[in-house]
Amino acid sequence: MSEEPLVLGIETSCDETGVGIVRGGTLLADAVASSVDEHARFGGVVPEVASRAHLEAMVPTIERACHQAGVRLGDLDAIAVTAGPGLAGALLVGVAAAKALAVALGRPLFGVNHLASHVAVDVVEHGPLPEPTLALLVSGGHSSLLLVPDVTNDVRPLGATIDDAAGEAFDKVARLLGLPFPGGPHIDRVARDGSAVAIDFPRGLTSGKDMARHRFDFSFSGLKTAVSRWVQLRQQSGETVDVADVAASFQEAVVDVLTRKAVLACREHGVDDLLIGGGVAANSRLRAMAQSRCEDNGIRLRVPRPALCTDNGAMVAALGAQMLLRGRPPSPLDLPADSSMPVTRVLA
Ligand code: KG4
Ligand code: ZN
Repeated sequence: MSEEPLVLGIETSCDETGVGIVRGGTLLADAVASSVDEHARFGGVVPEVASRAHLEAMVPTIERACHQAGVRLGDLDAIAVTAGPGLAGALLVGVAAAKALAVALGRPLFGVNHLASHVAVDVVEHGPLPEPTLALLVSGGHSSLLLVPDVTNDVRPLGATIDDAAGEAFDKVARLLGLPFPGGPHIDRVARDGSAVAIDFPRGLTSGKDMARHRFDFSFSGLKTAVSRWVQLRQQSGETVDVADVAASFQEAVVDVLTRKAVLACREHGVDDLLIGGGVAANSRLRAMAQSRCEDNGIRLRVPRPALCTDNGAMVAALGAQMLLRGRPPSPLDLPADSSMPVTRVLA
């Protein structure tokens, strides 16, 4: 391979059919078809609906990515695909498509971990990843703090949510405030007109006792219940609920805990680079608070642009390219879709 490797990545772990193409660390295409509108009336992703939508979107999205990148399938050096974790039926569609491409083209196949891909995508945005990097991944399906010495084969979990994911908490609180699904962007918008200190909502797992046992873990279900009770009490007594204040105070509680623990993890592990990824990384308050707390602690902050934070195929392609560049052996062609793939397993 004289040039940098041309890799196509397929992502189907949840409700986005993503197909991305990179050349080495350069992004050439990022085509995404989302079925989010089909799930909105259910208030959450319906697995069977997502799988069917992936099936219908797969070929057109691959074609769109190739067109965007100005490449033909025959030009590709490798195929990468999300092997897990995620919705089993949804993953299967992507894995089957990737196997078909790999066999038909006679190219290596890399079945990669979705969480590691969220980290690797920043290579196409901000260049090579510092080693180690500390990663805070926050989305509708996951909330984790990871120590990443090498995104292609050494990813160490420091903590994760013990109940709801951060995005899930945004979605549930949005729902009880009467905001549409997915709720994160709506809370973000509404909160701009509210006061973050109007209501002192709980900061989960930050007390002395909890910090001893769950130093880098998160919990958002108590916060969600606190918001729900606060709203109910006001409604029962006939008071008006200031949605902007509730949204801003709730958002502040989530973002405070996320950034506090991420910065603490950097300090305790001697890491100077923090990367934030996942859909919630699009949150404006999270970006602002992370920026100021990182500056205060001499930590460099990397946050990919919002379109690369939410699920997409470019992140899978980016990790696939790193696998090739590091000389990692490809996955077997009978690799399974693994809905509960552990975060420590980067390659299937
Ligand atoms: O990464 P993603 O697209 O899909 C999953 O893997 O879950 O993340 C979607 C999640 C949703 O819960 C959505 O409400 C949340 O990210 N989200 C946000 C914002 N934009 C998306 N949460 C807070 N503020 C935002 N601006
Ligand atoms: Zn994700």
